[in-house]
Amino acid sequence: MKPGDYPPGFQGLHGPGLTAPARPGDKSIMNRKRIVIAMTASVVIVVLGWVAWWALPSGSAGASVRLHPDDPAVVTQGKAIYMAQCASCHGEQLQGQPDWRQRHPSGRLPAPPHDASGHTWHHTDAQLFDVTKRGPEAVIGGNYKSDMQGYGGVLTDDEIIAVLSFIKSTWPADIRRNHDLINGPRS
Ligand code: HEC
Repeated sequence: MKPGDYPPGFQGLHGPGLTAPARPGDKSIMNRKRIVIAMTASVVIVVLGWVAWWALPSGSAGASVRLHPDDPAVVTQGKAIYMAQCASCHGEQLQGQPDWRQRHPSGRLPAPPHDASGHTWHHTDAQLFDVTKRGPEAVIGGNYKSDMQGYGGVLTDDEIIAVLSFIKSTWPADIRRNHDLINGPRS
Protein backbone atom coordinates (compact mmCIF):
# COMPACT_ATOMS: atom_id res chain seq x y z
CA MET A 1 0.00 0.00 0.00
CA LYS A 2 1.39 3.44 -0.94
CA PRO A 3 1.43 6.11 1.80
CA GLY A 4 -1.90 7.89 1.67
CA ASP A 5 -3.84 4.85 0.37
CA TYR A 6 -6.64 3.64 2.61
CA PRO A 7 -7.34 -0.05 3.18
CA PRO A 8 -10.34 -1.52 1.33
CA GLY A 9 -13.61 -0.67 3.06
CA PHE A 10 -12.06 2.21 4.99
CA GLN A 11 -14.88 4.48 6.13
CA GLY A 12 -12.96 7.71 6.58
CA LEU A 13 -11.35 9.19 9.68
CA HIS A 14 -14.70 10.21 11.16
CA GLY A 15 -16.63 7.07 10.24
CA PRO A 16 -19.24 6.73 7.53
CA GLY A 17 -21.23 9.89 8.38
CA LEU A 18 -18.76 12.47 7.15
CA THR A 19 -16.69 10.88 4.44
CA ALA A 20 -18.06 7.57 3.22
CA PRO A 21 -20.31 8.77 0.36
CA ALA A 22 -17.56 10.91 -1.20
CA ARG A 23 -17.10 10.17 -4.90
CA PRO A 24 -14.35 11.74 -6.99
CA GLY A 25 -15.45 15.25 -7.92
CA ASP A 26 -18.33 15.32 -5.43
CA LYS A 27 -18.09 19.03 -4.57
CA SER A 28 -20.91 19.32 -2.01
CA ILE A 29 -19.31 16.72 0.24
CA MET A 30 -15.97 18.49 -0.05
CA ASN A 31 -17.58 21.83 0.80
CA ARG A 32 -19.39 20.38 3.74
CA LYS A 33 -16.14 18.91 5.01
CA ARG A 34 -14.41 22.24 4.58
CA ILE A 35 -17.16 24.06 6.52
CA VAL A 36 -16.93 21.53 9.37
CA ILE A 37 -13.15 21.94 9.48
CA ALA A 38 -13.41 25.77 9.42
CA MET A 39 -16.02 25.79 12.19
CA THR A 40 -14.03 23.41 14.36
CA ALA A 41 -10.91 25.51 13.81
CA SER A 42 -12.60 28.76 14.83
CA VAL A 43 -14.02 27.20 18.01
CA VAL A 44 -10.58 25.84 18.88
CA ILE A 45 -8.97 29.25 18.26
CA VAL A 46 -11.45 31.05 20.53
CA VAL A 47 -11.03 28.48 23.32
CA LEU A 48 -7.24 28.61 23.02
CA GLY A 49 -7.41 32.41 23.05
CA TRP A 50 -9.24 32.41 26.38
CA VAL A 51 -6.98 29.76 27.89
CA ALA A 52 -3.82 31.50 26.71
CA TRP A 53 -4.96 34.88 27.97
CA TRP A 54 -5.94 33.66 31.42
CA ALA A 55 -2.92 31.37 31.73
CA LEU A 56 -0.32 34.01 30.87
CA PRO A 57 1.31 35.62 33.89
CA SER A 58 0.52 39.13 32.64
CA GLY A 59 -1.49 40.84 29.94
CA SER A 60 -0.07 42.99 27.18
CA ALA A 61 -0.33 46.01 29.48
CA GLY A 62 2.82 44.73 31.16
CA ALA A 63 3.58 43.72 34.69
CA SER A 64 3.95 47.34 35.82
CA VAL A 65 0.19 47.81 36.41
CA ARG A 66 -0.57 47.78 40.13
CA LEU A 67 -3.87 48.30 41.93
CA HIS A 68 -4.08 50.47 45.04
CA PRO A 69 -6.84 48.97 47.22
CA ASP A 70 -5.30 50.56 50.34
CA ASP A 71 -5.39 54.13 49.02
CA PRO A 72 -8.71 55.66 50.19
CA ALA A 73 -8.68 58.47 47.58
CA VAL A 74 -8.18 55.99 44.71
CA VAL A 75 -10.86 53.63 46.10
CA THR A 76 -13.40 56.46 46.49
CA GLN A 77 -12.79 57.59 42.91
CA GLY A 78 -12.99 53.97 41.71
CA LYS A 79 -16.31 53.36 43.47
CA ALA A 80 -17.90 56.34 41.71
CA ILE A 81 -16.63 55.07 38.35
CA TYR A 82 -17.83 51.54 39.13
CA MET A 83 -21.37 52.72 39.96
CA ALA A 84 -21.51 54.85 36.79
CA GLN A 85 -19.88 52.47 34.29
CA CYS A 86 -19.90 48.87 35.55
CA ALA A 87 -22.73 48.32 38.08
CA SER A 88 -25.44 48.10 35.39
CA CYS A 89 -24.01 44.71 34.36
CA HIS A 90 -21.74 43.54 37.19
CA GLY A 91 -24.23 44.61 39.91
CA GLU A 92 -24.23 47.31 42.61
CA GLN A 93 -23.12 44.68 45.14
CA LEU A 94 -20.60 43.28 42.57
CA GLN A 95 -22.84 40.21 42.43
CA GLY A 96 -22.87 39.80 38.64
CA GLN A 97 -25.84 38.69 36.55
CA PRO A 98 -27.99 35.64 37.47
CA ASP A 99 -26.69 32.28 36.18
CA TRP A 100 -23.50 33.99 35.08
CA ARG A 101 -21.81 30.71 34.12
CA GLN A 102 -24.60 29.88 31.63
CA ARG A 103 -24.08 31.35 28.15
CA HIS A 104 -27.06 33.19 26.59
CA PRO A 105 -28.65 31.49 23.55
CA SER A 106 -26.61 34.01 21.50
CA GLY A 107 -23.44 32.35 22.84
CA ARG A 108 -22.47 35.41 24.87
CA LEU A 109 -21.67 35.22 28.57
CA PRO A 110 -23.60 37.12 31.25
CA ALA A 111 -21.52 39.51 33.37
CA PRO A 112 -19.65 37.60 36.10
CA PRO A 113 -19.57 38.84 39.72
CA HIS A 114 -16.54 40.84 40.87
CA ASP A 115 -16.96 39.75 44.50
CA ALA A 116 -15.20 36.79 46.13
CA SER A 117 -17.63 34.31 44.48
CA GLY A 118 -16.43 35.21 40.96
CA HIS A 119 -13.08 34.62 39.30
CA THR A 120 -11.94 38.23 38.94
CA TRP A 121 -9.43 37.67 41.76
CA HIS A 122 -7.89 34.71 39.87
CA HIS A 123 -6.30 37.14 37.42
CA THR A 124 -3.34 39.47 37.81
CA ASP A 125 -3.65 43.24 37.98
CA ALA A 126 -2.23 43.44 34.46
CA GLN A 127 -4.79 40.98 33.04
CA LEU A 128 -7.71 42.82 34.68
CA PHE A 129 -6.39 46.12 33.37
CA ASP A 130 -6.00 44.65 29.87
CA VAL A 131 -9.53 43.19 29.64
CA THR A 132 -11.07 46.41 31.01
CA LYS A 133 -9.11 48.67 28.68
CA ARG A 134 -9.36 46.68 25.45
CA GLY A 135 -12.52 44.62 26.18
CA PRO A 136 -12.97 40.83 25.94
CA GLU A 137 -13.45 40.86 22.13
CA ALA A 138 -10.05 42.46 21.44
CA VAL A 139 -8.28 40.44 24.14
CA ILE A 140 -9.61 37.08 22.93
CA GLY A 141 -9.65 37.90 19.22
CA GLY A 142 -11.17 35.88 16.40
CA ASN A 143 -14.93 36.35 16.17
CA TYR A 144 -15.41 36.33 19.94
CA LYS A 145 -18.45 38.41 20.91
CA SER A 146 -18.96 40.01 24.30
CA ASP A 147 -21.51 42.40 25.80
CA MET A 148 -18.63 44.31 27.39
CA GLN A 149 -16.92 47.03 25.42
CA GLY A 150 -13.34 48.14 25.99
CA TYR A 151 -13.11 51.22 28.22
CA GLY A 152 -9.91 52.57 26.65
CA GLY A 153 -11.82 55.40 24.94
CA VAL A 154 -14.02 56.11 27.98
CA LEU A 155 -11.70 55.95 31.00
CA THR A 156 -8.06 57.01 31.43
CA ASP A 157 -5.51 54.39 32.53
CA ASP A 158 -5.60 55.87 36.06
CA GLU A 159 -9.40 55.63 36.14
CA ILE A 160 -9.24 51.97 35.07
CA ILE A 161 -6.72 51.31 37.87
CA ALA A 162 -9.02 53.18 40.30
CA VAL A 163 -12.13 51.14 39.44
CA LEU A 164 -10.21 47.85 39.69
CA SER A 165 -8.66 49.06 42.99
CA PHE A 166 -12.19 49.66 44.33
CA ILE A 167 -13.18 46.12 43.29
CA LYS A 168 -10.14 44.66 45.07
CA SER A 169 -10.79 46.78 48.18
CA THR A 170 -14.13 44.97 48.67
CA TRP A 171 -12.59 41.47 48.85
CA PRO A 172 -12.11 39.73 52.22
CA ALA A 173 -8.56 39.74 53.60
CA ASP A 174 -7.77 36.13 52.61
CA ILE A 175 -8.88 36.69 48.99
CA ARG A 176 -6.80 39.86 48.84
CA ARG A 177 -3.77 37.97 50.14
CA ASN A 178 -4.31 35.24 47.52
CA HIS A 179 -4.53 37.90 44.85
CA ASP A 180 -1.26 39.47 46.04
CA LEU A 181 0.37 36.03 45.65
CA ILE A 182 -1.07 35.62 42.14
CA ASN A 183 0.41 39.01 41.24
CA GLY A 184 3.81 38.00 42.50
CA PRO A 185 6.52 40.38 43.72
CA ARG A 186 6.49 43.96 42.43
CA SER A 187 8.79 44.44 39.47
C1 HEC B 1 -22.77 45.80 29.19
C2 HEC B 1 -22.41 44.98 30.33
C3 HEC B 1 -21.07 45.21 30.99
C4 HEC B 1 -20.56 46.40 31.51
C5 HEC B 1 -21.22 47.77 31.55
C6 HEC B 1 -19.25 46.05 32.05
N1 HEC B 1 -18.98 44.71 31.86
FE1 HEC B 1 -17.32 43.72 32.48
N2 HEC B 1 -18.03 42.00 31.68
C7 HEC B 1 -19.25 41.86 31.04
C8 HEC B 1 -19.37 40.51 30.55
C9 HEC B 1 -20.57 39.95 29.79
C10 HEC B 1 -18.18 39.84 30.89
C11 HEC B 1 -17.80 38.38 30.58
C12 HEC B 1 -16.70 38.37 29.54
C13 HEC B 1 -17.13 37.77 28.22
O1 HEC B 1 -18.02 38.35 27.56
O2 HEC B 1 -16.56 36.76 27.84
C14 HEC B 1 -17.36 40.81 31.61
C15 HEC B 1 -16.11 40.53 32.14
C16 HEC B 1 -15.33 41.41 32.86
C17 HEC B 1 -14.04 41.09 33.43
C18 HEC B 1 -13.34 39.73 33.39
C19 HEC B 1 -13.72 39.04 34.68
C20 HEC B 1 -13.37 37.58 34.78
O3 HEC B 1 -13.18 37.09 35.88
O4 HEC B 1 -13.33 36.90 33.74
C21 HEC B 1 -13.60 42.24 34.05
C22 HEC B 1 -12.30 42.44 34.82
C23 HEC B 1 -14.61 43.26 33.85
N3 HEC B 1 -15.65 42.71 33.14
C24 HEC B 1 -14.53 44.55 34.35
C25 HEC B 1 -15.47 45.55 34.07
C26 HEC B 1 -15.32 46.91 34.54
C27 HEC B 1 -14.18 47.41 35.40
C28 HEC B 1 -16.41 47.60 34.05
C29 HEC B 1 -16.71 49.07 34.21
C30 HEC B 1 -15.65 49.98 33.86
C31 HEC B 1 -17.21 46.64 33.29
N4 HEC B 1 -16.62 45.42 33.34
C32 HEC B 1 -18.42 46.97 32.65
C33 HEC B 1 -20.22 42.82 30.89
C34 HEC B 1 -20.08 44.17 31.23
